Amino acid sequence: MSKKNGLSNKQEDKWEPKNFMLEATTIWSFTDRGNWATHNGQYRGNWSPYIPRNIILRYTNKNDLVLDQFLGSGTTMIETKLLERRGIGVDVNPDSILLAQRNLNFSRNEKYKPKIYQADARNLEFITNSSVDLICTHPPYSNIIKYSNNIEEDLSHLDVDEYLEEMKKVSDEAFRVLKDEKYCAILIGDIRKKKHVIPLGFMVMQTFLNSGFVLKEIIIKEQHNCKATDYWYKKSIEFNFLLLAHEYLFVFRKPKSEQKKL
Ligand SMILES: C[S@@+](CC[C@H](N)C(=O)[O-])C[C@H]1O[C@@H](n2cnc3c(N)ncnc32)[C@H](O)[C@@H]1O
Repeated sequence: MSKKNGLSNKQEDKWEPKNFMLEATTIWSFTDRGNWATHNGQYRGNWSPYIPRNIILRYTNKNDLVLDQFLGSGTTMIETKLLERRGIGVDVNPDSILLAQRNLNFSRNEKYKPKIYQADARNLEFITNSSVDLICTHPPYSNIIKYSNNIEEDLSHLDVDEYLEEMKKVSDEAFRVLKDEKYCAILIGDIRKKKHVIPLGFMVMQTFLNSGFVLKEIIIKEQHNCKATDYWYKKSIEFNFLLLAHEYLFVFRKPKSEQKKL
């Protein structure tokens, strides 16, 4: 093991995915979730680093400023640092902040070490209007996975109706901080309650459209290695429903101010 940052020498050589190619279609599927640099799948509900890598490479240039206001374990910020973009990561949970800081503690590209804030995605007052080049983020899916026990601002405690109301504040704030003509990518999945699907993905998509964004892409992301699969497989047979195996990656554009009035 290297003493410097807790990475094995083997991992230290592994700063990039092998044979990486940008996704070219609207269906994304990563059977190998990606474990280069400090990426690992241990934080429950973290996303594959292939997602932010694709989004960052497609929609930004070197030195651009990227925001992830639902930081989690820091996957997006690891990618901004590796890809030489400036980053701002935000999360309400102090445990997530600590974990992300640990994951970001590697020696490569120290100049691009992101700024990390313990704060609420609904109130990014420390970020000025129209200053961010890309938003690349992954909020809780209502209360499907709870990320904390007693953090009041944690949106993963909210039922669908309240969650959507609060996500409107998130999307308004995202719209405020993003520069005109820049992109906001958000991963979100549907949920199932009482044997029926709640199309949370499209509900959140509409919330962002209501804030003034326009839709650039809808990407279907196939889900792999869902930790609850065995349990849900049995339930799906017992109650005759299909297992949800996809999420949506919505890419929005913030239109130019003049266009908004048209
Ligand atoms: C789906 S996880 C993000 C996982 C991340 N993409 C990763 O790869 O590790 C959602 C995160 O949102 C955070 N969160 C919940 N409510 C929040 C809020 N109001 N403001 C900022 N972060 C919040 C949770 O603490 C959790 O870490």
